[in-house]
This record gives sequence, C-alpha cells and structure tokens, in this order.
Amino acid sequence: MKKTYAAITAINGWVPEYRLTNAELEKMVDTTEEWILSRTGITERRILKEPGMGTSDIGANAVKGLLKKRGITADQIDLLICSTVTPDYQFPATSNLIADKVGATKAWAFDTNAACSGFLFTLATAAQFIESGKYKKVVVVGADKMSSIIDYTDRATCILFGDGGGAVLLEPSEEPYGIMDFEMGTDGSGFPFLHQKAGGSVKPASLESVAAKEHFVYQEGQSVFKFAVTKMADVAELVMKRNNLSGEDVAWLVPHQANKRIIDATARRCGTDDDKVMINIDHFGNTTNGTIPLCLWEWESRLKKGDNLILAAFGGGFTWGSIYLKWAYDTK
Ligand code: UT7
Repeated sequence: MKKTYAAITAINGWVPEYRLTNAELEKMVDTTEEWILSRTGITERRILKEPGMGTSDIGANAVKGLLKKRGITADQIDLLICSTVTPDYQFPATSNLIADKVGATKAWAFDTNAACSGFLFTLATAAQFIESGKYKKVVVVGADKMSSIIDYTDRATCILFGDGGGAVLLEPSEEPYGIMDFEMGTDGSGFPFLHQKAGGSVKPASLESVAAKEHFVYQEGQSVFKFAVTKMADVAELVMKRNNLSGEDVAWLVPHQANKRIIDATARRCGTDDDKVMINIDHFGNTTNGTIPLCLWEWESRLKKGDNLILAAFGGGFTWGSIYLKWAYDTK
C-alpha cells in the first residue's frame, strides 16, 4: 500500500506587541545587557501584558491567521492539539478554548506537555492521525505565556523567557513531503533540575507555596545546559545519519531556542553552516513551545518545496527530540 505522508501545508505565528528589553531588565534585577547577550544571545522578548489574556489567545490568534493563509474554514479542522506548559487553566485543556475561540466546531481537542520539546512531540503525534488515513486536517499549536510563571525578581530565569506561539496545519500528501522521520526521548530523573514546584497534585497551591514563590520556573541552569548541549546534538545527529543526510543536504536546522550557545553546539555537530540555522532567541527569547513554530513562521518565505529541515529540541523532564521534515510547498 502506498504510504501517506503528513505534510505541513500552512504555518502561522503570533507574538504580543510589548518588547521587554535587556535595558529594562537591568532596572528590574542585578544584571547587565552584556551578561545577558553573551550568555544567552537574547536582546529582547515579547510579553503579553493585557489582563485576562492567556495562552489560548496566543494560540487562537495563530490559528485564525493559519486558516486564512490556507483558505479554509475552522469547521474543516478534524483535530486540534495544543502543546503548552502554561495552560489557561489546570482544566479544561487550552486546546478546547482555542477550538472554541476559532470556531472549530467539528474538531476534538486536547493538550500535551513535554516542556520545551512539546511542539516536536506533538507534531510527531499529530502526524500519526494523518498517516493512518483517519484525518485530513490536523492543527498543532505550540504556545506559551511564560511570563505567567516567571519570577521577575530572579535574575537567573527572568532574562530568559518570552511569550508567543505558532500553529501548523498537517494534511495528507501522497508524495514524499512532510514528516519523514523522528526520534524522541524522555528521562524523568532530570526532574529536579527544571520544574515548577507547586500547583500540581503533589503540592497544591497554598498560602505557603505562594509565599515561597513555588509557582515559578525553577531551573538549575548549568545542569540543564550540560544535558541540553549533548542531547539536542545527539538526537539531531542520529536522525540525520539514519536518513543519510550530511550538513550540506540540510537546507535549515530549526533548533529549540533556549540558549545561543546550545544552538551553536548543535549546528557544529550537524555540520550546518551558521546561515542555515533558524534563530529567533535574539528577539523572542525562549518561548518554550513557541520557539520552533515561530522560527518556521518567520522563515516561511525562504523555504522551498523539497527543502530538508532538521528540527531539534531539549526541555524539562528531561525531554528531547528531532524531526526530519521535507518542506511541502513554495510560498506564493
Ligand atoms: O529551554 C529549556 C531548557 N533550558 C535550557 O536549555 C537552559 C540551559 N542553561 C542555560 O542556558 C544557562 O545555564 C543559563 C543561561 C541559564 C545561565 O548561564 P550560565 O553560563 O550557565 O550561568 P550560571 O548559571 O553558571 O551563572 C554564572 C554566574 C553566577 O554567578 P557566580 O556564582 O559565578 O558569582 C550567577 O549568579 O552568573 C550569575 N548570573 C547572572 N549575572 C548577571 C546568573 N544570572 C545572571 C544575570 N545577570 N541575569
């Protein structure tokens, strides 16, 4: 039987207007522009300041534009999956709220959580629904309002993260375009190094947990860095080797954007030249589930049908993954 491929047929992104610059952070915590830029590569990040707006608004804005670009209506979506670590609420799922906001009345919807690897885990999952022949139109959203879980008195974390996200549409392709291969991994023993201490079932919210600032991102940066720098490169290299791809065969490396130094190390291992690496950490910071779809969105006009893309991520959990994607369309 002929294989059906899950191809990305449209991409869109959305970020809030407000720009939190390094100069502004200098006034908030004991840091310098020079430290932030040299250690992370970030100059500014977007922050969703409007009260009452959450991750579902980021996702809904991205999906509305996505449907417009593809020229389809929301009721044509079969399934909508949102990957986030900052859901609007503990329940119901943020994807349900996005589906409602865009009018995806015939879709079922659920959330996934694999921290910074979430978009790739979800893309690989969503592809199965297309490849099996079950569905024709699946939307994957990767979005986070990281500012909702950041302690803006903690200089080690508040300089890193930003808000934003993107959405892709997956459709069947009889030709070999789309998701060609993937490899994912998890290691729960990485939990102590990157997590949110309270607000879940082990430690529900209490006056004490709020006073102890346990609802914010907790990260032991150096330990996470050591794992990230090897795991992200390892998994990308594995997927390339398995598909007989050299650095020259890859049109674009699309890495998760946690730290410019981690991105550079991954590019070196993949043999990818700097000008073939998508980077948005400088102007968006680490948007967690948003980093990779936002990269694809900003680079869309430069992507050509048949381009080989290597997507790679590492995140809390620990989680890591890489996808080999053959781009399916030229932008008109
Ligand atoms: O996306 C999910 C996965 N996350 C990651 O992949 C993140 C991986 N980790 C990192 O990217 C880096 O570890 C960070 C960017 C978070 C930190 O960079 P680092 O080079 O590992 O710095 P460090 O944590 O080792 O801190 C070095 C020094 C410390 O001071 P002492 O102890 O040497 O005196 C920190 O207190 O820098 C200090 N420091 C700062 N100084 C100025 C930490 N944050 C700041 C700051 N401004 N914002």
